[in-house]
Amino acid sequence: MASPVFLLALVVATLLPASKCRDGVGFQLKLRHIDAHGGYTKLQLVTRAMDRSRARVAALKTVAAAAPVVDPITAARILVAASQGEYLIDIAIGTPPLYYTAILDTGSDLIWTQCAPCVLCEDQPTPYFQPARSATYRLVPCQSSLCAALPYPACFQRMCAYQYYYGDYASTAGVLAGETFTFGAVNSTKVRVPNVAFGCGNINAGDLANSSGMVGLGRGLLSLVRQLGPSRFSYCLTSFLSPAPSRLSYGVFATLNSTNTRSGSPVQSTPMVVNAALPSLYFLSLKGISLGQKRLPIDPMVFAINDDGTGGVFIDSGTSLTYLQQDAYDAVRSELVSILPLLATNGTDIGLETCFPWPPPPNVAVTLPEMELHFDSANMTIPPENYMLIDGATGFLCLAMVRSGDGTIIGNYQQQNMYLLYDITNSLLSFVPAPCNII
Ligand SMILES: *[C@@H]1O[C@H](CO)[C@@H](O)[C@H](O)[C@H]1NC(C)=O
Ligand SMILES: *[C@@H]1O[C@H](CO)[C@@H](O)[C@H](O)[C@H]1NC(C)=O
Ligand SMILES: *[C@@H]1O[C@H](CO)[C@@H](O)[C@H](O)[C@H]1NC(C)=O
Ligand SMILES: *[C@@H]1O[C@H](CO)[C@@H](O)[C@H](O)[C@H]1NC(C)=O
Ligand SMILES: *[C@@H]1O[C@H](CO)[C@@H](O)[C@H](O)[C@H]1NC(C)=O
Repeated sequence: MASPVFLLALVVATLLPASKCRDGVGFQLKLRHIDAHGGYTKLQLVTRAMDRSRARVAALKTVAAAAPVVDPITAARILVAASQGEYLIDIAIGTPPLYYTAILDTGSDLIWTQCAPCVLCEDQPTPYFQPARSATYRLVPCQSSLCAALPYPACFQRMCAYQYYYGDYASTAGVLAGETFTFGAVNSTKVRVPNVAFGCGNINAGDLANSSGMVGLGRGLLSLVRQLGPSRFSYCLTSFLSPAPSRLSYGVFATLNSTNTRSGSPVQSTPMVVNAALPSLYFLSLKGISLGQKRLPIDPMVFAINDDGTGGVFIDSGTSLTYLQQDAYDAVRSELVSILPLLATNGTDIGLETCFPWPPPPNVAVTLPEMELHFDSANMTIPPENYMLIDGATGFLCLAMVRSGDGTIIGNYQQQNMYLLYDITNSLLSFVPAPCNII
């Protein structure tokens, strides 16, 4: 990838000052589901979410497979992420601010947008960012730790050049720069944060899903959450089928306690785990699963991270349905088949594997138990509406999880009406059930 970027480049301004303390920074944003205003039916929403999840999982696998982990330095060069996300946020870049919508991604780190002059750009709904027209555009010095944190850093004429590949066909390349970002929509309360490092992409490929860039919320140094003061964020996702926007909080606004979440349950916390092959992702230590009072017969080793970086369990906002390691999936399936007074069927239109006819016959009472995920030091309760899905159109009640050959991803369908706090500084994920539409 190329030199055209550098030849075309850029209005050089002064260099970005060393990163400042941003301890007081915090703000809240609305999260818009990617299909919120599409007028889709429930079946279409689920099908679309499944298609996106499938693409994301395939992308993650590609990158994980591409480069087996040999040592941490090699691992740091493996870039893993999937380009599509599930949620959009409103932000603006530069001075004066250019507003746009970006895909939020907890699976990658880089913040980037397409920049003029474009060598290769995708269509986007807002104008390309023009560094020359912004009073606050700065270059990031090659020797900065942010430049070093790139997967393929390169220095060209004192500019830190980047190339960032997602696991699918998407990629972006250009110059790592610093800008003032404004968080919040045009006419809402806004917070301006100076000197946020971002990729100003002149060579880009991939589907931006009607947005104009991406905001990485992964664990790496370049992610928005690491660049802002207290490295933590929280979100509370409203029901999958509800048009009500969800909420995302950053920095000092990201707090979690049973008062501000209106929850009667205690807040639980589990340590995050590092997978050197996929360092941006939020891996957790899962030990087992219960349905109702019954602990399912699952060997905890099926949730372990393998030596080559595959396997393990991570939580993601950009994957919809949970991908459950196959042995665990089989245990959940066989327990459901045994406790439900319904005949299991395969292969519905939705493409989910474990389904039952719905509604049940008039004289049959169906009670679904809660599911519990047993993490290290914390139990996460998943109510029936977060792991089963009723499709009235086709007449099925289905397990809203997908069998995975390798590894487990806790998707956003399982996170509905749960307040989650990702505290990177303390390497803890905390959560509590909460009514996300009213808090
Ligand atoms: C923002 O507010 C201004 C003035 O009230 C209005 O003209 C403009 O259309 C609004 N923009 C959006 C995107 O709502
Ligand atoms: C992009 O947004 C426009 C306007 O909201 C809409 O008409 C169009 O269908 C969207 N395209 C995609 C691919 O979502
Ligand atoms: C709970 O969080 C709110 C902020 O959302 C904070 O004002 C309050 O002090 C917190 N309460 C406790 C007990 O930490
Ligand atoms: C459903 O699928 C499973 C595994 O894919 C298979 O073992 C089983 O026989 C199928 N059941 C029916 C009713 O087709
Ligand atoms: C989680 O649930 C298991 C099994 O019910 C129980 O033994 C354990 O004490 C619980 N852990 C916490 C932190 O509540």
